[in-house]
Amino acid sequence: MICAKLLTQAARLALRDELGANQSALMHKIPKVELHVHIEGTLTPELRWRLAQRRGVKARFGHDDIKIDTLQDLRTAYDNIISSAQLCAGLPSEHLVTFFQAYYSGFEFLTTRQDFYDLAMDWFRRAAAMNVRYCEPFFDPQGHTSRGVTWEDMMGGFRDAQRTAASELNIQSRWIMCFLRDQPPEDAIKHYKAALEYRDMIVGIGLDSNERDRPPCLFEEVFALARRDGFKLTAHCDVGVKDTHTHIRQVASTLAGGCGLDRMDHGLNVADKTDLTALVAQRDMSMTICPWAYLRRETYDSIAERIRVLVDAGIRVSIASDSPAYTDQSWVTHNLLLTQRMCGFTDRDMVKLVKNGVDASWAEPNVKEAILLEIDAVQDS
Ligand code: HPA
Ligand code: ZN
Repeated sequence: MICAKLLTQAARLALRDELGANQSALMHKIPKVELHVHIEGTLTPELRWRLAQRRGVKARFGHDDIKIDTLQDLRTAYDNIISSAQLCAGLPSEHLVTFFQAYYSGFEFLTTRQDFYDLAMDWFRRAAAMNVRYCEPFFDPQGHTSRGVTWEDMMGGFRDAQRTAASELNIQSRWIMCFLRDQPPEDAIKHYKAALEYRDMIVGIGLDSNERDRPPCLFEEVFALARRDGFKLTAHCDVGVKDTHTHIRQVASTLAGGCGLDRMDHGLNVADKTDLTALVAQRDMSMTICPWAYLRRETYDSIAERIRVLVDAGIRVSIASDSPAYTDQSWVTHNLLLTQRMCGFTDRDMVKLVKNGVDASWAEPNVKEAILLEIDAVQDS
């Protein structure tokens, strides 16, 4: 039986390889969307290595106690990332790197327009190979401007890649700008105003980073502004964090002038309480669920059970990958296959989840229609 306790790292990697190997599975070939992927979370060991070499610097990872002399050292370090919960459980910290340490230490390799272009193109190429037709990548501008990166280089690189992806890879995209909730709300507002120059690229506003003691209501002002200006709104409600049910309630019902946001990222704990499940269903809110990202902290069975509760309640759940380079290199297709396996869903159930993603997306109606038609054609073939 797989399994009422946390999967070990070896078990996760074996599961990833097993799920990835069956290339004839419908979830590989089906046209799909990806609505929850942090572009900075797609920085693979290989690309981090290449960017470090190009800059002539060491490929640091996490903190200075982690010795990285070769690409293989870097790959191993990625495989050994732990969750903050594991760190709190008293594991010796000097040789360990948490998700956030790993994720943010990758930012230092992103400085020039070419770096941002290469990062985004690496994702778009991989997405094309997985038959992703449309995506809404998140980006964290504060993590770049704070290091002196210009908006022009960051957004210019993203824009160049977005255009190349549309013309050469058949992938449409729109960006979601996330604010770092562990930074002051005033800094979010400052970045919001600066980003308006790039409005044509940005469809939505999100909220990410470390959620502990940082409830979404702290960011009410920027969400209200963004709603007034016509942006779509979403926020992370990370799984199992302190006060998660309060945070979920704010996202679902009180933020942005008293009606709640348009989507919720993660929010698996909605399934713990019947009133929250009913609230999200009744508001017709979409949720992005990234099961692989929860495996380091939650048991396989408890993840599966809660996804089933959300789906059975009629909530528009779509499956996504979050920060795939840092979660065992498990991309959107792996997350779909994991969901199918863990929940015992049929292909038909899974097609519904894939279509949910299209419905939940903030793409133009003609883009959505074209993908839905393609899905039907693949399903019937
Ligand atoms: N949660 C919060 N912030 C993040 C995440 C996440 O899962 N991934 C990247 N930034
Ligand atoms: Zn995320």
